[in-house]
Amino acid sequence: MVKHPFILGIEYSCDDTSVAVIQNFSVLYNVIWSQNIHTYSGGVVPEIASRFHQRDLVPLVRQVLKLSNIKLHQINAISFTLGPGIKNSLLVGTNFSKYLAMSLNIPIIGVHHIQAHILSHFIRFTNKYSPKFPFICLTVSGGHTQIILVKDFFEMTLLGKTIDDAAGEVFDKVSKFLGLGYPGGIIIDHFAYFGNKNKFFFKIPHITKFNFSFSGFKTQIFNYIIYQLNCNSDFVNNNLFDLCASIQNIIVKNLFEKVNMAVDKTNIKRIALSGGVSSNSFLRKYFDNATKLTNSELFLLPIEYSIDNAAMIAIVGQLKYERGWFDNFDVVPYAN
Ligand code: KG4
Ligand code: ZN
Repeated sequence: MVKHPFILGIEYSCDDTSVAVIQNFSVLYNVIWSQNIHTYSGGVVPEIASRFHQRDLVPLVRQVLKLSNIKLHQINAISFTLGPGIKNSLLVGTNFSKYLAMSLNIPIIGVHHIQAHILSHFIRFTNKYSPKFPFICLTVSGGHTQIILVKDFFEMTLLGKTIDDAAGEVFDKVSKFLGLGYPGGIIIDHFAYFGNKNKFFFKIPHITKFNFSFSGFKTQIFNYIIYQLNCNSDFVNNNLFDLCASIQNIIVKNLFEKVNMAVDKTNIKRIALSGGVSSNSFLRKYFDNATKLTNSELFLLPIEYSIDNAAMIAIVGQLKYERGWFDNFDVVPYAN
């Protein structure tokens, strides 16, 4: 095994195609290519997503190698997302990664997408340090909302999760419902900036322990808006910013409340955030203020490492490479 390997990371589990090269926990280059085509359908169309990954993977690998100033034969291992994710996308990406590794005669490392979101906190950045073990990680994305107790790189306990929709899913579905497009989180984030976060109130049910439930909350929003539209067809237009701000506020408060419960219970005062929703500007400010008040330490990632990215896949690849944890070429992906 090489002492300072170059690891090529490849991520394609949903609608972003991303390729990165890392060495020594530092990112040489990380490119994220978002498939804007899903804007028109209001959500990811699996068949289209996988075809776009197929189209984009080769040029992205070429581009990343060029920008990293290294040659393909210098890559020591390929790490790639094994799951969870969209079945078609995973099949395209894993096959691509396996065949590339086979042709280079180098090992492959399959990576769990959520584990990668968590361990992305160990990407080495200038001006930023990684959380010490143990820490509490809130991973909030389009498909997951989980609170995880991270005791070591590969020793994690799930403390709580959503029992229905993920937080990002609510952002996306509300955005679609309001006719704002996909992906919804970033659009709602922008509009919410101009709104009154205390104008509308929707209730999130209290679920036991550290679990979440957003499905009823989402239905309340839909029902309320349908009712209001029946009375006034301009309701959404007249209240768009306030609706976005209020909905975002309620989701963020609920996320913090549960994380804070986990902090109280475990007495671990280090909180790390990861996943696409953790790039939300209001969420970042809210957690920043709230953790200061509760004397907890907050770890945020730069936006491009909060959303789906290949650098996080490569980091797990590096950690597994050091341990000699490689996969066989008959490894198969696991969908959602
Ligand atoms: O982690 P990610 O890139 O992909 C998944 O693993 O799902 O997360 C995507 C999710 C989407 O639901 C998207 O709407 C949400 O993250 N998201 C945001 C923001 N940016 C992306 N949600 C709220 N505010 C944002 N600024
Ligand atoms: Zn993700």
